[in-house]
Amino acid sequence: MSKETVILTGDRPTGRLHIGHYVGSLKRRVELQDAGDFKKMFVFIADAQALTDNIDNPEKVRQNVIEVALDYLAVGLDPSKITIFIQSQIPELCELSFYFMDLVTVSRLQRNPTVKTEIGMRGFESSIPVGFFTYPISQAADIAAFRATTVPAGEDQKPMLEQATEIVRRFNYIYGDTLVEPSILLPQNQVCCRLPGTDGKAKMSKSLGNCIYLAETAQEVKKKVMSMYTDPLHVHVEDPGHLEGNAVFTYLDAFCQPQHFGEFWPDYANLDEVKEHYQRGGLGDMKVKKFLNNILQAELEPIRQRRAEFEKDIPAVYEMLRKGCEEAREVAAQTLDDVRRAMKINYFDDAELIAEQSKRFAR
Ligand code: TRP
Repeated sequence: MSKETVILTGDRPTGRLHIGHYVGSLKRRVELQDAGDFKKMFVFIADAQALTDNIDNPEKVRQNVIEVALDYLAVGLDPSKITIFIQSQIPELCELSFYFMDLVTVSRLQRNPTVKTEIGMRGFESSIPVGFFTYPISQAADIAAFRATTVPAGEDQKPMLEQATEIVRRFNYIYGDTLVEPSILLPQNQVCCRLPGTDGKAKMSKSLGNCIYLAETAQEVKKKVMSMYTDPLHVHVEDPGHLEGNAVFTYLDAFCQPQHFGEFWPDYANLDEVKEHYQRGGLGDMKVKKFLNNILQAELEPIRQRRAEFEKDIPAVYEMLRKGCEEAREVAAQTLDDVRRAMKINYFDDAELIAEQSKRFAR
């Protein structure tokens, strides 16, 4: 990071944000924001991208725009330090996508592993909406329009960033140095890359009903933690327990800090001691779950309180978003001016062109 760094990330507003998003990216964003070592930082709600596979469900996207905005504010993203905006409100992104479409082949898009997996997951088979198929291009435009240097994202977004980089490189090669090649900033902690669901399944997802949401009440969180998937072989307390695939321990790896032992569980000095006892046998799931619940509550309580405050003034949240969109649009408009000039489609602000053409046609 440096004073030249431009950080940009986005989320599709298809649901409320959960603790997987929190450890995987939100927490890092707040740290980056507070470190302040950047020129600009943008966080945006990718509603247009969410519509690419929710085109018949605009109400869902609309509801989740405000949910995600509240989650952003609740975790401590601060519109006085960064720009928070909504993708669809920046028409320059459509314009840039349109030009980018000429720089990508159909076969290159078909080879994008993220798109491949997602097409499979959605059961689109042969009825893939063109907008969904081409969303890597639109995502490249999101990144390039703000001249982002640094895109904090999960492993799953790697192919997206590679494709964005290729597009930018090709643009600069054809039209001259105009845009900035981005790089991905992966999560530091491996466990944080993909938090499993409370049922132990590989991914937290709304459709599986295995999420702990940031906006959830303390009682709901506790109930979910207490019914979490652990180790099916750990039937009696004295049985040896297994850590692999044990969601409670994966969450502890992601959330537990040294000070939590003094605060909540002075019987142990660190997580390794807990793990060792669990594997040896004699440590019950309930005790470990109670510890995890205490940790999660400590982390989530301030987030819940901040959210409740922001919920009291929803018009102010929309106003914050409106201002963010305005700020973002100014930046994107500047880039698009440069893009149009590079592509030689800036007919009316190019005095040289007009003079040249006058000469050519003079008799
Ligand atoms: N595809 C991202 C996701 O599903 C969201 C996204 C859209 C994004 N545009 C972006 C992320 C640009 C980083 C940069 O989470």
